[in-house]
Amino acid sequence: MKITFYGHACLGIQIKDIHILVDPFITGNEKASHIDIETIPADYILVTHAHQDHILDVEAIAKRTGAIIVSNYEIVMHYQNLGLEGHPMNHGGSWQFEFGKLKYVNAIHTSSFPDGKYGGNPGGFVLQSDKTIYIAGDTALTYDMRLIGKEFDLDLAVLPIGDNFTMGVEDAIRACRFVDCDKVLGCHYDTFGYIEIDKPKSMAKFDSKLKRLILLDIGESMNV
Ligand code: NI
Ligand code: MN
Repeated sequence: MKITFYGHACLGIQIKDIHILVDPFITGNEKASHIDIETIPADYILVTHAHQDHILDVEAIAKRTGAIIVSNYEIVMHYQNLGLEGHPMNHGGSWQFEFGKLKYVNAIHTSSFPDGKYGGNPGGFVLQSDKTIYIAGDTALTYDMRLIGKEFDLDLAVLPIGDNFTMGVEDAIRACRFVDCDKVLGCHYDTFGYIEIDKPKSMAKFDSKLKRLILLDIGESMNV
């Protein structure tokens, strides 16, 4: 499994020859101006919730690639009404896709579309393939994360660390314990003023608790 960070909460996940894109917000991210959305491959687009900083480029990329949009029922209906393909899920449900198994799990946040329309309830995903990863989405620390630690043997947790709108670094370290995973890819930081972090300090805080915080440059990839 190869993961590419496209900035903010957007990830590309490659499993064999299948490309999964998570929460595409690129054309609105000044820090990702060197990323051309026309070149990003996508067979599936996973959407954690309907906020603009997670869906801005869904429509354009889905139109170009024909990708299947996977999200909660309300978000998938929104895109199906625009003529795009989708696979609706809801909290606690799993589905076996060609690339692996996905479970849509709880997140504590909100989920309105940019125009105020209801976007269902926000979630995260656990993806089980050659590796197992937890993509938390925008969320507070929640005891529900313990259920993920009990059910799955995670290789990586993708957690928001920018604070203000989501967990900050301290709660993300607690989340590591809850989901029982010591390796974290940080996201949802530095994109705009409210969520700026001190990267070396944040990594040191993880180190001090014997956890590892990985922060990729925008456009950089890692193997899980
Ligand atoms: Ni959000
Ligand atoms: Mn967000």
